[in-house]
Amino acid sequence: MHAAGRFIVFALCALLVTGIGLARAPQLAEAGYTYATPTRDGTGKYYFGREIAQVMGHRAAGWLERRSRAREEAPDRAVQAMQLTTDAVVADIGAGSGYFTFRMAALVPAGRVYAVDIQPEMLDIIREQMQRRSLENVIPLQGEPDDPKLPVGTVDAVLLVDAYHEFAYPFEMMNGIVRSLRPGGRVFLLEYRGEDPRLDIKPLHKMTQQQAISEMQAVGLDWVETRDFLPTQHFMVFEKPALASHQ
Ligand SMILES: C[S@@+](CC[C@H](N)C(=O)[O-])C[C@H]1O[C@@H](n2cnc3c(N)ncnc32)[C@H](O)[C@@H]1O
Repeated sequence: MHAAGRFIVFALCALLVTGIGLARAPQLAEAGYTYATPTRDGTGKYYFGREIAQVMGHRAAGWLERRSRAREEAPDRAVQAMQLTTDAVVADIGAGSGYFTFRMAALVPAGRVYAVDIQPEMLDIIREQMQRRSLENVIPLQGEPDDPKLPVGTVDAVLLVDAYHEFAYPFEMMNGIVRSLRPGGRVFLLEYRGEDPRLDIKPLHKMTQQQAISEMQAVGLDWVETRDFLPTQHFMVFEKPALASHQ
């Protein structure tokens, strides 16, 4: 065959192969997601029938530090209930301004807390606080919307407070989180109680216990218990099985 002809055949084959790849990639990456017109505060992207909420911007960081929050959410009781050992390796995912990060850092003086967020401005706030408090056991980590970027198989406990419902890629994020946990490691998922219609929180920012259990089981986590000692949130505990597939 003429050289130009061979090139055209090669180019057509390459186009066909990459074309198939491109056509398939979104399908694989988006497995389990469906789409519709976004509702108020929503993204229009659905997972297990739940519309994913919009991400809270860093300009609202002051709201995370509001004085009334200690009464509304009892954060000290929440972190105590995690029963962390002093050398535990913990990850606060969707850490925001570090409202929970620093509470956990005080409980693990011989361990460390990874503070993961996708907004660099949030991590800057955390770094400022680390300096002000002269803390060295907090590690700020810039995550991606579909990857917490945590080291594999090393984390004892992951805390998710008011963050999971706004993950744009909950399946991929949770798979990354499960990979980061050691076998028997735990996920503590705190979300405003979706079953309570009197709770004055935007509907997409609440979750029912059943919804959360379905989504966590989808990535191989075992549900251990749901405790309702917090004023407004579920305190849900999940565990990575000792013989999990993501090790
Ligand atoms: C409502 S704030 C809660 C912050 C903190 N957990 C608290 O309770 O104070 C949610 C945070 O999750 C972060 N976030 C959203 N999607 C994320 C993702 N895929 N990975 C890491 N952080 C994420 C947002 O940037 C935001 O800072």
